[in-house]
Amino acid sequence: MNLKGTDILTAAQFTRDQVEQLFSVADGLAARLQKGERLRTLDGKLLATVFYEPSTRTRLSFEAAMQRLGGGVLSVAEAKTASSVAKGETLPDTIRTIANYANAIVLRHPDVGAAQIAADAASIPILNAGDGAGEHPTQALLDLYTIRAEKKTIDGLRVALVGDLKNGRTVHSLARALSLFKVDFSLVAPAALSMPTEVSDYLRARDFIVEETNDLARTLQKADVVYMTRVQKERFADQKQYEKMKNFFILTSDLVKSAKENLLVMHPLPRIDEITTDVDTLPNAAYFRQAKNGVFIRMALLAEVFGN
Ligand code: NCD
Repeated sequence: MNLKGTDILTAAQFTRDQVEQLFSVADGLAARLQKGERLRTLDGKLLATVFYEPSTRTRLSFEAAMQRLGGGVLSVAEAKTASSVAKGETLPDTIRTIANYANAIVLRHPDVGAAQIAADAASIPILNAGDGAGEHPTQALLDLYTIRAEKKTIDGLRVALVGDLKNGRTVHSLARALSLFKVDFSLVAPAALSMPTEVSDYLRARDFIVEETNDLARTLQKADVVYMTRVQKERFADQKQYEKMKNFFILTSDLVKSAKENLLVMHPLPRIDEITTDVDTLPNAAYFRQAKNGVFIRMALLAEVFGN
């Protein structure tokens, strides 16, 4: 139950009780922040954010969350070029070293399984902020928190995950996290970018109805939530293939207006061209509110992992 001292490596590790506990802690912290209260919960604690891949939201919202709780931050935004990694240091050695300076490490790395390797090397908690095309569990927490904030429930919804389901780590984690609730899944992708069977089998083994299709317009007739994703350019060996795939799905305001009423439009961001900017002003567009929720849920997670 308790998350104190635990590594956060995969969305599959959470129980529904833990997720709901995080929601209520996040609600409480958000309310206190909004009142202008200065929190001191993590006074004296240090969080290291070690990023081998680019990031805007994940790193900055983790750092904001830590500082909003009164803790401090050690930040390596460009671990590949700005740390001893550039000299050839291995991930376990880098992590072991940083573990001497901080109380927990948030790690983003291009290799699937990197967070597990880091967790094996360090005795302090490792929080996976994206391991290649593997997982991004804290994004899944903020995604669930956003669905619940916007829809007042998660149970009973049909959720469409759309785009690069093969390479997108956010959808790998979100699918697993959603399986704690009673939802129906539409997995919308071109055949070449379909959801890895490891993830779809995980859902089917838990008796979920999983529809796989590439018909976005039809899916939007029945979906309650559409979760758009970016085609992951950096995972393509052949850039011509990326160019062919990048605009396979484009969500426009016309599509949203012809969809089921109150469709919730989400995106982990960054958005490239897969949602046209005319969607941004529709009440359905939740993606910037979603990014804001990242601070509250990460505050809750840090408070729990540090055990306060
Ligand atoms: C995502 C990621 O890094 O996986 N971004 C994020 O953390 N919000 C999505 C993406 O880069 O497409």
